Amino acid sequence: MAYDFDKVINRQGTSSSKWDNKPGNVSELNYKVDEALPLWVADMDFETAPEITAALLERVKHGIFGYTMVSDSCYDAIIEWEKERHGFDVKREWILFAPGAVPAVHMSVQAYCQTGDHVIVQRPVYYPFFRTIYNNGASILNNPLKLNGDNYEIDFDDLEKKASDPRASLFILCSPHNPVGRVWSASDLEKMGDICARNDVLVVSDELHCDLIMPGNHHTPFASINERCRENSVIVIAPSKTFNLAGLQATVVIIPNRRVRQRFQNILTQNSIPQPNLLALTAMETGYRHGAKWLGELLAYIQENYDFMVKYLTEKLPKAKPFKMEGTYLAWIDFRALESDPDKLQKRMLTEAKVWLDEGKIFGPEGNGFERIVLACPRSILKDALDRVVRAFA
Ligand SMILES: Cc1ncc(COP(=O)(O)O)c(C=O)c1O
Repeated sequence: MAYDFDKVINRQGTSSSKWDNKPGNVSELNYKVDEALPLWVADMDFETAPEITAALLERVKHGIFGYTMVSDSCYDAIIEWEKERHGFDVKREWILFAPGAVPAVHMSVQAYCQTGDHVIVQRPVYYPFFRTIYNNGASILNNPLKLNGDNYEIDFDDLEKKASDPRASLFILCSPHNPVGRVWSASDLEKMGDICARNDVLVVSDELHCDLIMPGNHHTPFASINERCRENSVIVIAPSKTFNLAGLQATVVIIPNRRVRQRFQNILTQNSIPQPNLLALTAMETGYRHGAKWLGELLAYIQENYDFMVKYLTEKLPKAKPFKMEGTYLAWIDFRALESDPDKLQKRMLTEAKVWLDEGKIFGPEGNGFERIVLACPRSILKDALDRVVRAFA
């Protein structure tokens, strides 16, 4: 391996949300947590690709940080990455930018929903979607994922029912799915796209994890499925999960349909949202141009972490059941056989195991009794976390 993912880097004291925060700041707790190893927020404990760091250092050396525009070569890098990696032909005029994926989803709700509209989500799902909906006067229409044995599936009949609700105007799709780790097949996406197009429900496809695909799986951008999907979608991608650049806050919003794009542009304009900052643009372009080798090794390391975790739990805590992780670096584990009460599970995780994970319950009640663990860390940290969990629960 050319890159060292085993290297442990102390992030404490760097204003890291993951390492310098306290569980009590993030969720309401009526007990004290002294110390808990953090594997909660989707943030990697690895240095980004060295090519990106070198480009940032070079840019910083220039010493002038004035107003910046998105260069032609940055647009080209985005377009080439999408084409080469995902077979998706993106036209330059389809591309807009946002200061984050959650802001992009939030602005989509503002752009495409009226007060009182219903927005479809598939719980258990990435929880900040919920606030993008209710903070904008809309309400959540849940199309829960179906747990079929050890696999999550889409309930198409229920989606048809929800999409035909006259107040349903938007569907926030999570593809690949956080937290359950599914990479939706082209045929699943086609069926969802057909249901939404027939019912006049616009699809916002959050594809933030699209580059984090485990071997043997294949991500299909929603808008590349067919013309109907292309014309009825807003695609959200970013280098932030791919290269661990979330703190730089740059997200790409791809909207092929001119009228749909104009409505999103109006929200950007109304709020005077600027283009991404110059360091974010430098990092984005470099990642998309030169980061593929690093990403390949990263994915291999994460797959090994996943395999390590499964073997470890199978041997030492067989009642904890990890799901297959087709994409993302987030493992979803069923703890219901060990502790079914979600509040007690959280308390035991924080105070007995002393590990801070994202509790399944925050992804919706369908996640009660589950835990989400971030596998994007050196194996020694993962092993420490698993040791703690096994000691507390075995
Ligand atoms: C599916 C998904 N969307 C959005 C985000 C957050 O993106 P941002 O930090 O760019 O708002 C995350 C972070 O974990 C995510 O998993």
